Amino acid sequence: MRVDVVSIFPDYLAALDLSLVGKARQAGLLDLRVHDLRDWTADRHRTVDDTPFGGGAGMVMRPDVWGRALDDVLPAGGGGHLVVPTPSGDVFTQRHAEALAAEEHVVIACGRYEGIDARVAERTRAAGHRVSELSIGDYVLNGGEVAALVMIEAFGRLLPGVVGNPHSLVEESHGAAGLLEYPVYTKPPEWAGLEVPEVLLSGHHARIERWRRDRALERTAARRPDMVAALDPASLDKADRAVLAGLGWEVRDGRLRPAAEPEPGSAPGRVAE
Ligand code: ADE
Repeated sequence: MRVDVVSIFPDYLAALDLSLVGKARQAGLLDLRVHDLRDWTADRHRTVDDTPFGGGAGMVMRPDVWGRALDDVLPAGGGGHLVVPTPSGDVFTQRHAEALAAEEHVVIACGRYEGIDARVAERTRAAGHRVSELSIGDYVLNGGEVAALVMIEAFGRLLPGVVGNPHSLVEESHGAAGLLEYPVYTKPPEWAGLEVPEVLLSGHHARIERWRRDRALERTAARRPDMVAALDPASLDKADRAVLAGLGWEVRDGRLRPAAEPEPGSAPGRVAE
């Protein structure tokens, strides 16, 4: 896979030399090229921004500079994919990471200041490329570089051969099960007066699997009720449903919903004899 990142702070992306993504680059699994946007400026001061039309605070990145950069790094003739990290984008999820990992070439345009002149995305789409404006969460960073690092790490580890044991991608949080991952433990079996749950030492695979599933359901219900509500009831066995019922969830009209509050006055009372 080829990834081009354009930024006014190319050094921010130096972290991509490290760890698994760094190894993937060395192994030739990921062809990552980082570019300095200022290489496409045309003035002595290497200016990339200007004041916003319509007034207001801050500066906006100039479309002419970005246009030249993208003409050089996107494939000629269209068919490329431009990702623009921005707090006003769609929220980036594991599904986006999976889709990006399946691409041959992605270009990431890191904006700074108040963002990139909106005509850049418009012209890029008109030239036959896809443009995805993506946010890594509901908070504002100073620029797209950290968001680009997040996205590259998220999709980079999904590239075949990057994570040593592909099985570790199967059970993790935000995977196919739609649940957060269960808590994990390692040696020593007793530490700081705390013991590893006995079942994990039992060697009883079916019981371990059930215990992990129960903890994943509990954790997801406590931390991410939105993920419980999005579960497909058909993916739940009887034990799953019992755990969820104990946590206040039930299947109604083919969907998981918080168990209905009893109507006032309809609470089961004592029936007159
Ligand atoms: N740039 C600034 N804030 C951002 C965010 N939350 N996500 C993606 N890009 C950003």
